[in-house]
Amino acid sequence: MTGQDRSPLFEALQRHVDENVVPFHVPAHKHGQGLQEMRDYLGERTLALDVNSMDDVDDLSNPISVIDEAQRLCAEAFNAAHAYFLINGTTSGIHAMMISSLRPGDRIILPRNCHKSAFSGLILSGAVPVYAKVEINPDLGIATNPTVQSFARAFERAPQATAVFLLNPNYYGLTGDLRGVMQLAREWEARVLVDEAHGGHMYFHDDFPFTAMDVGADMSCVSTHKTCGSLTQSSILLQKTSSVERARILNTLSMLRTTSASYLLMASIDVARRQLATRGKDLMSEVLHLARHARDEINKIDGLHAFGPELVDNQDIHAFDETKLCVHVRKLGMTGFEMERRLRQEYRVQVELSDMNNILAMITIGDTQEQVAHLVNALKSIAGKCRIQDFHRVTLMPDMPETIVIPRDAFHSHKKSVPLHRAANEISGEMVMAYPPGIPVVCPGERLTHDIIDYITILKEHNCRLQGTADPMVNEIRVLGL
Ligand SMILES: Cc1ncc(COP(=O)(O)O)c(C=O)c1O
Repeated sequence: MTGQDRSPLFEALQRHVDENVVPFHVPAHKHGQGLQEMRDYLGERTLALDVNSMDDVDDLSNPISVIDEAQRLCAEAFNAAHAYFLINGTTSGIHAMMISSLRPGDRIILPRNCHKSAFSGLILSGAVPVYAKVEINPDLGIATNPTVQSFARAFERAPQATAVFLLNPNYYGLTGDLRGVMQLAREWEARVLVDEAHGGHMYFHDDFPFTAMDVGADMSCVSTHKTCGSLTQSSILLQKTSSVERARILNTLSMLRTTSASYLLMASIDVARRQLATRGKDLMSEVLHLARHARDEINKIDGLHAFGPELVDNQDIHAFDETKLCVHVRKLGMTGFEMERRLRQEYRVQVELSDMNNILAMITIGDTQEQVAHLVNALKSIAGKCRIQDFHRVTLMPDMPETIVIPRDAFHSHKKSVPLHRAANEISGEMVMAYPPGIPVVCPGERLTHDIIDYITILKEHNCRLQGTADPMVNEIRVLGL
């Protein structure tokens, strides 16, 4: 690869700052002079880099110099034909993939354990969801992936489907048969759109599962901020094929994007890309070493199970991203939520997510041996104070509700609030999301059942963070009707 040791956007920004240009343009803080308190804390340079588009540093709305160059290098590093910088996370990229490749009324096949951005993408695009059945691992209580057979059944139900949407990997690091689904989608002449919010690092080491661009998917979105080292909110949209016109993608992105893209965010993608393109293999070898060591040590602790590659069955779990350090904690007689709280309050450890049964710690290029040892010791100490229980029963998510009204129509329908305990049989007007991991229990337009209401009630009792409803406590829920 050529020029991967350069970061053209970051270099242009540095030149601009070094020139000491006198700014008579937005942002109003003018290199931090108008926001002293923040400048004192963050440092002069950080705020000096927070500029707006101008000739020196190009313009994301119409990139012709350093941003264009930075995006080309990014495309090359991720094995794509084109890369587009995103400054509103993968959420905006998923919206762009759906809006640019689907027309209102088009069918799209997707797994139920999608992130909420895919569900809002359905509302924005007007597409009709056809859900491929997601498997649930009964021992761990987590969603895995739909099998190729589940996708095939979805195509038989909806032969006119024009796209398939996939997670690679899911939040827990589990990937499905990406190649198998690709092949199936090609047979049905459907596009393949991939959510790789948690998979950006997988492009840089052979021990990781296959990536969307490597198997020839049409488009993919990568949260570079989650696993590649760039700043929060920065992501990339990758395009491999020309099944969707580049002009249409550009048009869609410009509808969804601010006209004042943050240079701090964009430059951080540029630098993170350079780092991974030039040293990614070594960095990821170190990350894998840390993750493998931590997993082995945690599995020596009575009552804890750090699950991993042994789950691979070539059905719903084809590969495992070992940087997701998932620990099953129910044998300690506590929920994942409780373990998260205890780690935070007693040991200053903050994990990425917890659910009823598990916690998930992300191991990344920012970790050190000492930090990982601190996590392992904290888990050891908590487990040492617990009585091991023979706990096998896990609270599984209720069955997928029936779709009565398509998401966009449900969004635009009249709605009223009813108490949650009296909402059975109503059509939900909003999404109820357990976050993280961001899997909806019910979506707008779907029938609420007693099982769903019981499940939401259990989540509330365990202080799980629920999102998506107008009532933050979810004592009431909005349903369709006057
Ligand atoms: C699976 C998945 N997809 C998409 C997103 C959205 O990513 P972003 O936070 O970059 O908008 C998330 C965020 O948590 C996610 O978990």
